[in-house]
Amino acid sequence: MKLQQIAAGVAALVATALFTPAANAADPIVIAHRGASGYLPEHTLAAYELAVRMGADYIEPDLQLTSDGQLVAMHDTTLTRTTNAATLFAPRNGGYRVSDFTLAEIKTLTVKPVGSSKPSYPGFTPTNPELRVPTFQEVIDLAKQQSAAAGRTVGIYPEAKQADPAMEDAILSTLRANGYGGSGDKLFVQSFSDQTIRSIDAKSESLGMDLSLVLLGGATTDASGAAAIQMTGGVFALKDIASFADGIGLSLSTAITADYIAQAHALGLKVHGWTFNQADPTLAAAQFERYLDMGMDGLFANFPDLAVEAVDAHRGAVPETATWMTMIVGFGGVGLLLRRRKPAARAGIAHA
Ligand code: G3P
Ligand code: CA
Repeated sequence: MKLQQIAAGVAALVATALFTPAANAADPIVIAHRGASGYLPEHTLAAYELAVRMGADYIEPDLQLTSDGQLVAMHDTTLTRTTNAATLFAPRNGGYRVSDFTLAEIKTLTVKPVGSSKPSYPGFTPTNPELRVPTFQEVIDLAKQQSAAAGRTVGIYPEAKQADPAMEDAILSTLRANGYGGSGDKLFVQSFSDQTIRSIDAKSESLGMDLSLVLLGGATTDASGAAAIQMTGGVFALKDIASFADGIGLSLSTAITADYIAQAHALGLKVHGWTFNQADPTLAAAQFERYLDMGMDGLFANFPDLAVEAVDAHRGAVPETATWMTMIVGFGGVGLLLRRRKPAARAGIAHA
């Protein structure tokens, strides 16, 4: 190996060391948390569509079951916070549980803005402007329509909100009916219940489906000091979780560190964080960058446009493989140039 080639190789390695953060996810994803819920009423088709237009990789429907066994996109177990149910219906069983209302009844409701969201977003006209509670099927339909329109696959990230075998079965049958179940699908299924994830893992396997499953909880350590996840059911070591899940979804209010994420990665687990809810672009950018630098693989964001910007900036700061190859070839080119110029310089005694 010539001196110039060695120099080129060393230069590439130095550049790698200089520009690569201590840890970084290969390709972080943006998950629109309940749609673009910082801008439009959560879990509406309009909020999901806006999220896709903003560049989100995945849209997230939380799922509840109606009294007639239909999956609808809704976070709460009750209808009161996000809809006008209390103005249209009398209470049932003392309240407004989703599970006490039929899909037809829920379809008469209007979803109202909560938090920072508004009924509309400037310059955006949704394909379906009605602010209704969508079914899971309608969310899937939207993801497929938007995939075709955007020329890229829009992923879905459904959450089983109830630890209920009926909900597991409904999710699996809906996914199957829509052609999901291959290992390359842009799909994660999530739950706060380890029992639900274990059960979906077993059921999907028996159905010949290969699903990516994510367990939600908080970052912690177990008695031995190893990375673990805190759930209502207790503390589970990540090495045990890795036997049935593909990733973990962590609350940002828990002890997430680069070392924790590295331990998860070593076990083959993806790490996604929730919920990024900073509306101020500067503060949001700093928060996203902090977690991306730790190596976080996915961001549940209420303002997906800000998350997309942060991921793009992060990708720019961390050249991808192709970029590295270009750099290395570039450094090699410089080496070759030096090699050619050297005899010329020697011959250029004439310049002296
Ligand atoms: O699913 C991740 C995150 O959404 C969990 O929080 O309560 O918004 O469903 P929640
Ligand atoms: Ca959720």
